[in-house]
Amino acid sequence: MHHYSGKLAVLQSEDLPLVDAQAFAKQLAVPLYESVNKNTPEDFFLTWRDTELKLIDKDLLKKGGLSVDIHPRNGEQRSWPAPKEGALAQAIGRKTKTVVDATTGWAQDSLHIFRMGYDLQCIERSPIMLALLDDAFKRLEQLDWMQRLALSAPKLLAGNAIDVLAALDSAPECVYIDPMFPPKRKKSALPKKSMLILRDLLGDDLDRQSLFAAAFSVATKKVVVKCPDHAEPLGGEPTMSFGSKLLRYDVYLKG
Ligand SMILES: C[S@@+](CC[C@H](N)C(=O)[O-])C[C@H]1O[C@@H](n2cnc3c(N)ncnc32)[C@H](O)[C@@H]1O
Repeated sequence: MHHYSGKLAVLQSEDLPLVDAQAFAKQLAVPLYESVNKNTPEDFFLTWRDTELKLIDKDLLKKGGLSVDIHPRNGEQRSWPAPKEGALAQAIGRKTKTVVDATTGWAQDSLHIFRMGYDLQCIERSPIMLALLDDAFKRLEQLDWMQRLALSAPKLLAGNAIDVLAALDSAPECVYIDPMFPPKRKKSALPKKSMLILRDLLGDDLDRQSLFAAAFSVATKKVVVKCPDHAEPLGGEPTMSFGSKLLRYDVYLKG
């Protein structure tokens, strides 16, 4: 369970009825403000701007804030399903059909996996990320190409993946995990702003070892772990690895 008190508040907005804002603040157990300024104690605010739920950093109040980006990244083919190319697809495998992303976060990996046509379910435990993801997946379902192809957004499952995985109706072939690792002292690659904010709000995922064990016992074919170059492999020596110098996808095959 995460406690956001002192860190996060909900900020009222013209785009959101007051009752909804109140319900939302109550659900997250954080204050609701009509307006905020530099002296407001919390560092982060959840609010609606331009019809998107956004996380706003106090130092950047005037800027746009962060929402879950539902659009393909540069270079990604804009058709569905996009070709299964690149290190992530190599790690998951072309023949794999069902995938569970146990650490959805900003869903950039999830959405990439979804766009390549895998049958995907997403797990996230942070209530604030769940709120941002819920908003994003609703926006996703409104996109032209999603409607044209009659696609639904991936199913979003709330809770600790260690428990959620064990309670799934049917076991996925592949479980994908990208937990928060402690930062390297000497910075090699500058983490993205969105990831820095996540670390500020949620901290490292200290139970990542147990998450790996849960993933490995549930997956029928394999577990894929994304990790920074400097990190020790989470599950011991992987069967194989894909990726670049800064980032690896470690693959653990079953049986
Ligand atoms: C490094 S971020 C994942 C980033 C994601 N791959 C992306 O592309 O945006 C880790 C996320 O996993 C979530 N998480 C970590 N351990 C979890 C667990 N055991 N159960 C559910 N969610 C977990 C954290 O709350 C956080 O949002």
